[in-house]
Amino acid sequence: MLKRALQKQSSALHSSSVLGGVRLQGCGLKQLGGLTRGHSTVDNEEVGRFNQLSNTWWEEKSSFAALHTMNKLRIPLIKQSLPLSSEDETTPLFGNKILDVGCGGGILSEPMARLGAQVTGLDASKDGIEAALQHRDSLNEDILNRNLDYQCDTIENFVIGREESFDAVVASEVVEHVASLDTFVGSCAQLLKPGGSLIVTTINRTQLSYWLTIVAAENMLSIVEKGTHDWNKYIQPQHLQHVCQQHGCRLTLLHGMSLNILTLTWSWTQNTLMNYAAVFSKSIR
Ligand SMILES: C[S@@+](CC[C@H](N)C(=O)[O-])C[C@H]1O[C@@H](n2cnc3c(N)ncnc32)[C@H](O)[C@@H]1O
Repeated sequence: MLKRALQKQSSALHSSSVLGGVRLQGCGLKQLGGLTRGHSTVDNEEVGRFNQLSNTWWEEKSSFAALHTMNKLRIPLIKQSLPLSSEDETTPLFGNKILDVGCGGGILSEPMARLGAQVTGLDASKDGIEAALQHRDSLNEDILNRNLDYQCDTIENFVIGREESFDAVVASEVVEHVASLDTFVGSCAQLLKPGGSLIVTTINRTQLSYWLTIVAAENMLSIVEKGTHDWNKYIQPQHLQHVCQQHGCRLTLLHGMSLNILTLTWSWTQNTLMNYAAVFSKSIR
């Protein structure tokens, strides 16, 4: 099975930039004579899949249930990783401008904005952004109306004219879905102010992650929709660290994350063979 997955990786690498008649599914995509613009971060199939799931972002028992419960770990992680801290107990993220790239329906964007950060949620999925906007507007909370903005675009288009404007860029459960990791990380790094933080959560590419996330979670237990993950696109922490380093971002924290599949609750672990969180700091010139 691993062999078949590796063969699939090789053919995906050769065809990732060719759209060959597939309908463009997201925002900010430019088509030049049948090819995406050089090094687009968008995998059209992936974004199409998220478009199809867009009415389930806020359903308690959907494929996204484990993302909702992941907030218990990622909110404290983000709080401790931001360059600016506020004394105010109710708005501890106040003063920070955060980009939540690949925000989906806004599961993480909303609590960050509620805690006082100025948040921009960015996603290439048009339907995902519509779901996020609809949910924010249905709540009609003053703090969300003030602090939370959504944009449908690719990161490589969004960065144009906005270099060094964010204190933190959060890419949670996204890098394993993008087409060009180098362009994705490079664009995130460009958006960060010097000293700013890039906060990533993702899945390691190991035999264990293949059996647990593809075989067990997708095919046997249906915890997430079949086809949500492509094991070939999972990223080993050393590789992520190398790519970030190339773009001037230094690793400051690496933690394993463990999911209890019966209760869908998360806890920190030293083991990074499955899910992990990594924080990088952009160098100060
Ligand atoms: C698993 S979801 C994570 C959502 C959100 N970060 C969370 O944790 O709740 C992955 C999201 O990444 C988005 N995505 C995939 N490729 C992208 C790209 N190249 N640029 C921006 N968003 C992308 C998808 O549309 C989807 O909404």
